[in-house]
Amino acid sequence: MARTSLAKAVSLAACLAGQAAAYISNGTVIIPGASSYNGINLTPQMGWDNWNAFQCNVNESLLLNTAKAMVDYGLRDLGYNYIVLDDCWSIGRNETGYLVENPEKFPSGMKHVADTLHGMGMKFGMYSSAGIFTCGRFPGSLGYEQKDADLWASWGVDYLKYDNCYNQGQSGTPKLSFDRYNVMSQALNHTGRKIVYSLCNWGNDDPFDWAYTISNSYRMSGDIYDSFNRPDSRCPCTESIGCAWPGFHCSVMNILNKMAAIQSRSQSGAFNDMDMLEVGNGGQSDSEYVVHFSMWAMNASPLLMGTNVLTLSPANLAIYSNPAVIALNQDPSAGAAVRKWQYFLDPDQTGQGEIALWTRGLANGDQAFALINAANTSMTMNATLYDIFLDAATAGAYQTPAVLGESWDVYDLWGNRMSNTEAGMLINGTAPTLDAMSMSNSTSWYNATATSYADGLKANATALYGTKVGEMGPMGTFSATIGRHSLGLYRIRQRSGAGMRKRDEL
Ligand code: GAL
Repeated sequence: MARTSLAKAVSLAACLAGQAAAYISNGTVIIPGASSYNGINLTPQMGWDNWNAFQCNVNESLLLNTAKAMVDYGLRDLGYNYIVLDDCWSIGRNETGYLVENPEKFPSGMKHVADTLHGMGMKFGMYSSAGIFTCGRFPGSLGYEQKDADLWASWGVDYLKYDNCYNQGQSGTPKLSFDRYNVMSQALNHTGRKIVYSLCNWGNDDPFDWAYTISNSYRMSGDIYDSFNRPDSRCPCTESIGCAWPGFHCSVMNILNKMAAIQSRSQSGAFNDMDMLEVGNGGQSDSEYVVHFSMWAMNASPLLMGTNVLTLSPANLAIYSNPAVIALNQDPSAGAAVRKWQYFLDPDQTGQGEIALWTRGLANGDQAFALINAANTSMTMNATLYDIFLDAATAGAYQTPAVLGESWDVYDLWGNRMSNTEAGMLINGTAPTLDAMSMSNSTSWYNATATSYADGLKANATALYGTKVGEMGPMGTFSATIGRHSLGLYRIRQRSGAGMRKRDEL
């Protein structure tokens, strides 16, 4: 695409997203006021990736059947619209150097897969590695970046997950990794097609410090595994800073806690990626999966379902489908949460007896907070307004901010969780049509394809706000009993008329 038409397309996307117009300088897209390097993915991408559940067992019917189920179960309309094909899809390169798909796995070809997905209102994600091989030892894209990007664009690919294996030693410093990943970034831009660029370099060389000017998301940890908090020596780091060996078999709590130090680097268009979701894979309890899903949402991580959608249980569909939690993830503020405190009840078992408070400011002035109990017994936990507004209270001259003197309504974001009966009806096709659910203003489901989360939040759509469970007065405290390996997830809203009016009247 010529630069002018790319510029037009970018500027249109930016305008649609409410951003100032974009322009191109030296081949780089510049969007004043926005951080997305290519004008897309202003809130975290959502979808499905086959890796966690299927590894190399991929083929076109798996992708297309999964996409159909996601449409039928209402997942597409909740926002899960990328189908990402992971490793092991190709057989090599042809005599002209282009990648060739495995004809047994993809007999109709990749363009057919992309076209069919697009026909369903879904998008197509592709995988490769910034190395000579992928991690599964299929051909990688190092040295073939433009050729591969052009081929994917010709197929209609909308997303690239770009791994880090077999990188020929071109890592070890941020600059080496930046340069290697930047080649593909430029190649994708050069195709003229809008392609979400998702780095998968496991936090290696601190991508949270450099990847936001060349990509839309970047993995910040070694690979997740389906465990709530079991330490595993193959995932040796407990902090993302200075982690020389990201590894794999990282638990939910391990990855969550690695976010604490780097949370400020998540931003519109470029998100810290905490890795694919494990909800549904069987290794955690229902309440552990609720913690996992909630905290990925709170931290504006991409939400990529990593399970077999075709065998999803009603309870797991209900977790993936909670619109009040997804609305946190898709909040226009596009920032991650802050861990305000963390205590270990049993100092000998670091990470095992943990309780924590995480909070996040939202675009409309609401605040979200999560009380996490990763310890082994149920307990009463407290969140104070002071902790929630700690940053305002400790800024500058340490003056008490007005928000501490105001009153707030507390909403439980899991209060309207879809019942297993309703989720079961969606799975077996006996639920009212999704249109009817949407029209009836369901409190447990939401059609984000019809009305974006940003617009639904502005319109106070009930499904996005959970159920009211309490109030916090000036300098107040909210207390809740939180079961073991569980969390309370809340949104607080300033009580209408209280503090705001006082300020207006001054
Ligand atoms: C890993 C990556 C996984 C998956 C796998 C494929 O490096 O982190 O998410 O893509 O490679 O081989």
